[in-house]
Parts: sequence; structure tokens; C-alpha cells
Amino acid sequence: MTMLATLADTLFALARPVVHATDAEAAHSLTITALERLPPARCAVTSPILATTLAGIDFPNPVGLAPGFDKDARVPAQMPHFGFGFVEVGTLTPLPQDGNPRPRVFRLTKDRAVINRLGFNNGGQDAAIRRIERMRRLASIVPLGINIGANKDSTDRIADYARGMAAMAPLADYITVNISSPNTPGLRALQDKGALEALLAAVRASATTPKPIFLKVAPDLEPADIDDIVAVAMDQRLDALIVSNTTVTRPPLTDAQAEEAGGLSGAPLRDLAQQRLADFRKASGGAIPLIGVGGIASADDAWARIRAGASLVQLYSALVFEGPGLAGRIARGLEALARRDGFVRVADAVGVDG
Ligand SMILES: Cc1cc2nc3c(=O)[nH]c(=O)nc-3n(C[C@H](O)[C@H](O)[C@H](O)COP(=O)(O)O)c2cc1C
Repeated sequence: MTMLATLADTLFALARPVVHATDAEAAHSLTITALERLPPARCAVTSPILATTLAGIDFPNPVGLAPGFDKDARVPAQMPHFGFGFVEVGTLTPLPQDGNPRPRVFRLTKDRAVINRLGFNNGGQDAAIRRIERMRRLASIVPLGINIGANKDSTDRIADYARGMAAMAPLADYITVNISSPNTPGLRALQDKGALEALLAAVRASATTPKPIFLKVAPDLEPADIDDIVAVAMDQRLDALIVSNTTVTRPPLTDAQAEEAGGLSGAPLRDLAQQRLADFRKASGGAIPLIGVGGIASADDAWARIRAGASLVQLYSALVFEGPGLAGRIARGLEALARRDGFVRVADAVGVDG
């Protein structure tokens, strides 16, 4: 772990009572503003045990920042300071939009969870393009994923994804097609077989610069949905599936804010996301690479996801509770777990429990 991450963890521990007494979205904005002041990272947490390749992209380590933290691509170059082996920015829509009325992010401290109903608030793809171009000239230490979505008021959502692909692919190492946010009404219907076929065909056709395409799915799927998604993904030669987004279900929760509407993430999502990853592994027979997200808060959590079939993992909510150095601690913990279980590289353990 870098000195900076250690220092940030110490500051986080000191400031946590104040930060957690602040509205979650306001605290997040302050965090991004502080991160913008840091210089870009010059090196990544890596080792021969951790380094891995997916869709032709080299990752220094398999622990990524999930989208939603850096929606507008303000700090991707700074996040490797904290141990992240890749960063996914977004969701970015073609046009800027405000999202839902505030308050719309809720910290469920007792449950180590977050509920959000942000609704793709973002400054739009054009503003992000300018930032990413500048960032790419300064530093590009870890792979950058760009997560694209549709505007809420769009009359042709598939056209929004096609437009996003055309605009963002030249700047990205991979593009994530996000059809699994619960906060844009009707969006998740794009996971249905016919709609998904049309969507992925349109996205692929619009890529002037061919880049790997990942698809991010919801955890709230029935077995038949999973089979359909896998069939379309294979047919369309998708590069990876990201499992999963937030859940609209409510496993038992104790925090007073548990009834807030929106997508639930963090610890209570962990077992559901782990199960869905295993379901996708089983349905695809390992033919499509998987990326595991949802409730990962420790090296043990990440290792279980990898052993169940995840080539990479991502996290967001646990940062709120565990502090900024978490990704680096998980990466180093994965090295130790790989050694313990007799693997030369973490990548050798992908799917061994499947
Ligand atoms: C506040 C917040 C905003 C999010 N925004 C996005 C988003 O814009 N696009 C997206 O694909 N996922 C978004 N997510 C979902 C995360 O990327 C991730 O899939 C989910 O939170 C589960 O991982 P976690 O339990 O580690 O947070 C968001 C999550 C949170 C908590």
C-alpha cells in the first residue's frame, strides 16, 4: 500500500464521525473535490501473482473501482494511489441530466450498506471526453472502463447507447453497457432477450474504434433470464458480463433508512451477488469472462468471488465503511490467499469452485 493510502486511511478514521454525520451525497462531493487535488498516480499495486489479462487488456491487479463513485471521470488517474488495478467511470449519458430529487443516497451504517436512487445524474459525455483526453495525456497507469447509459427522457434508448459507444470507445480500454440501474424507469427491460439482441447489435455496429464490450446486469434475475442473457452474450461475442448492479430486493436490514426506495448495495448484497455470479458461471460454462461486484469488503470476499468464476472484481460501497486503502489491502490479501491455496497466480483460481 502506498504511503498516501495509509495516510488517507488514518485521516479517514479520524474524520469518519464527521463524514458520517454529513449527508452521504455531500460527503461524496467533498471526497471527489479532495481527490482532484492529488497528482495522478505514477505506479500501480501489482506483482506477478496479481497481474492478469482480460479481453486483451493487461490489469496490474484484479481489484477495480465500480462505477458510480466517479460518474463524471474527474479522478480516474488518482485512484491507483489507493490500490485500484482498474477504474470504471460513469454511468455517462449522451446529454447531461440532474437525476432524481435529493436526498437520494442513504448510508445504512448499521447494515454497512447504501441505498441510492440517483437516476444517472451526470454532466454528459462531451464534458467527460474533454477530461479524459486531458487525463490520458498526463497519466494512464491502469485500464479505464467507461460505463454508458441512456438519458431518462430519451425517445430511443438504443440510439443513446450506440451514440455513447461511438463517442466514448476511442478513449476507453473497455466499454460497459449498463442496462441494470433500477433508477431509470424501464431501463432494466433492455435485459429481455429481443431488446438485448437489438441493443448489443446496435452498440457493436456503432463502434468506429473496436473496443471490448462488457454488459452489466442486475442481481434480480430469474434462471430463465440468466440463460437468455448468456445466449445473447455468446451470440453477440460479448467480452465480459459484470455481475451485478444494486438490488431492488430487501434482505433483512436493521437501519432506520432501510425502507428508502432505490438500489441496495454493500454487505447485504454480498451473498446475492455471489450466488448470481455462480449462476452465470454455471449457465455459461466458463465461456464468457465474468466480473464480480456487490458487497465485496475484504480479501476473503474477493477471493470467494474469484474462485466462483470472477476474472476481476469491483467495489464501491465498502469504501464508505472501510476507508480509502481498502482496494490495496484486498489486492495484497489476494496474494496471500493465492499462496495459501497453492496457486501461482490469482488468475489460476478463477472458477475453481464452479
Ligand atoms: C451511490 C452509488 C451510485 C452508483 N452509480 C452507478 C452507476 O452510475 N452506474 C453503474 O453501473 N453502477 C452504479 N452503482 C452500482 C455499483 O457500481 C455496484 O454495482 C454496486 O454498488 C454493488 O457493489 P458494492 O456493493 O461494492 O457497492 C452505484 C452504486 C452506488 C452505491
